[in-house]
Amino acid sequence: MKSFKLIQLLAITAVLLAGCKEETSQQEADAQEPGGLKTIFKDDFYIGAAISATQIEEADAKAAALLPKEFNSITPENVMKWMYIHPGRDSFDFALPDKFVALGEKHGMNIIAHALLWHSQLAPWVEQVKDAKEMEAVLTNHINTIVGRYKGRVHGWDVVNEALNEDGTLRETPFLKTMGEAYLEKVFKLAAAADPAAELYYNDYNIEQPAKRAGCIAMIKKLQAAGVKIDGVGIQGHWSIAGLPYEDIEKSIQEYAALGLKVHFTELDMTVLPNPWDLKGAEVSQNFPGSPFMNPYPDSFPVARQEEQAVAYQRLFELFLKHRDHIERVTFWGMNDGHSWLNGWPIKDRTNYPLLFDRNFEPKPAYRSVMELKKKAKP
Ligand code: XIL
Repeated sequence: MKSFKLIQLLAITAVLLAGCKEETSQQEADAQEPGGLKTIFKDDFYIGAAISATQIEEADAKAAALLPKEFNSITPENVMKWMYIHPGRDSFDFALPDKFVALGEKHGMNIIAHALLWHSQLAPWVEQVKDAKEMEAVLTNHINTIVGRYKGRVHGWDVVNEALNEDGTLRETPFLKTMGEAYLEKVFKLAAAADPAAELYYNDYNIEQPAKRAGCIAMIKKLQAAGVKIDGVGIQGHWSIAGLPYEDIEKSIQEYAALGLKVHFTELDMTVLPNPWDLKGAEVSQNFPGSPFMNPYPDSFPVARQEEQAVAYQRLFELFLKHRDHIERVTFWGMNDGHSWLNGWPIKDRTNYPLLFDRNFEPKPAYRSVMELKKKAKP
């Protein structure tokens, strides 16, 4: 009996020691290779990136390696927009969208499709649609074909993108002009029927700003009252280092969550370039002339400004962590500064630095400041 107890004791000690060793080696591994953003924030929200056609094709080896290390969600930057995926009334092009979905599956990622309905990057033929009946048939075919094709494979759809004006009223799109506001209910219902398991989102910029937010909430409430399934709201998050709207972001998270929605930050970036017109948001049709004054960092991003950006990103992520229960995903609009659309919008050919990785895929101070938040939080 006694020797049995001794053996038992030895066995327990061995197990405990092995456990400790495992823990120590995990801690050592963490210290050396802490894992990317997706690992650090794995209990909080998905960390996503918008990816270009080149990145979908894995043509850039550095991007292909960085993607699964840092990100666990992907959004196609352009290839699923109407003009590319449904260029002619009876023609669809699924080559790159298929590769996009397959890439997400290969890495076991949260796959977001963007954007089913948007007035911009729309195929020109859709603008010729004359009346409600014809538009309804066009939308039915568009949604059934595309959402149906990826049924059970895409986790979430940006069903409607940018349907609102800055004052919260509905934007005059070809959909509104032909069908009136009934188009909103129609497209969400079509998407839900085509893939009942997919999450459905409304996505827009500046919907953290008071007037547009009020319009957005009113629109969503109407949809909900009509029995529409809407799972989340996508706040694009094209902000500027000149001033992030932290208070409005916080209010927005709370108010959208109160509607029973998950909040997604879907297109996060932070321009560091001048903007004398005080533009807010991401109205893609804006285009202004350039000048050296408007492009102050053509060769490199000054260290002091990098630190400033790091502080702003840290404060933003602090807010995200505070409301992690309501936030499902934070997606950056691009992987590194060189990829960002902000090098070309709203002024062409500038050098911008809006993301967490530099043009060589090296993490910037902003990357470290964001990661630092979780390290601090650890006991
Ligand atoms: C942008 C892309 O990044 C660019 O490559 C393209 O030329 C224009 O569109 N809001 C959206 C995104 O919902 O789809 C837009 O993406 C940026 C603004």
